[in-house]
Amino acid sequence: MPTSVPEANRPLLAVSQLATGYGPLRVIESLDMSIGAGEIVALVGPNGAGKSTLVKAISSLIAKSSGMVTFDGCDVTGLSPRECGKRGLVHVLEGHRVFAPLTVEENLLLAAFDVPAAERMERVEEAYSFFPDIARKRHDKAGALSGGQQQMLAVGQGIVRRPKLLILDEPSAGLAPVLIDRVLEVVKSLRAKGAAILLIEQAVEKALSVADRVYVMVHGKLVLDTDARSASAHGVLEAAYLGSTTTH
Ligand SMILES: Nc1ncnc2c1ncn2[C@@H]1O[C@H](COP(=O)(O)OP(=O)(O)OP(=O)(O)O)[C@@H](O)[C@H]1O
Ligand SMILES: [Mg+2]
Repeated sequence: MPTSVPEANRPLLAVSQLATGYGPLRVIESLDMSIGAGEIVALVGPNGAGKSTLVKAISSLIAKSSGMVTFDGCDVTGLSPRECGKRGLVHVLEGHRVFAPLTVEENLLLAAFDVPAAERMERVEEAYSFFPDIARKRHDKAGALSGGQQQMLAVGQGIVRRPKLLILDEPSAGLAPVLIDRVLEVVKSLRAKGAAILLIEQAVEKALSVADRVYVMVHGKLVLDTDARSASAHGVLEAAYLGSTTTH
């Protein structure tokens, strides 16, 4: 059983001294980060920096070499991704694809597989409330949706799990600017309902416009942790893409 962390003002997510990678490739060494309840945190950085690796380790999709993750007061370091999801730590993977031959509704029901059967439709309706366009296509095959709508559906699959923290790894990759804005509107609505969001996003300036705080990751390290509103987008971009740490 996970042990309880009895602190009054603890963050929703706390990562301490995390090390992880793939076999002999160590991508992240000794990383600390935290996310407060209801906070929108952007995680930005160049390709290959380790952003996806970090969030996969947080949600137990890859093994941790060392370190600890606590979520909502419990040590979740050794839990499976499914157990993390049941506790409200939900991760929509980079490049996640919906099941094209299934309908929109079947895709959402599938994501609610470990929710009690009597509650599944309620969860699906909750997800529809964020995406009116998709709700109208509930009986269409997911493969018949536009690419952007399929990405929204993937986010909807996270929402049916009723996340306390929703990790979105590039949910707007490849989308037109107007659809990126749509994804970010959903992020804001989710937060308005009490969820925290960790958003990995290439469109840094757009991400900063909705985030409370931003982490910049370069070469497996968090080189900047700053208030998204006080940071100049230029400074964050520089740190994210040139690896500069001079913007502290
Ligand atoms: N499945 C894997 N097996 C081995 N190495 C991997 C694997 N996935 C990623 N890597 C390596 O780990 C490092 C970090 O990659 P990661 O995908 O976490 O970066 P990222 O910041 O998410 O990049 P991007 O912005 O392109 O999504 C890179 O050197 C990458 O080549
Ligand atoms: Mg990635």
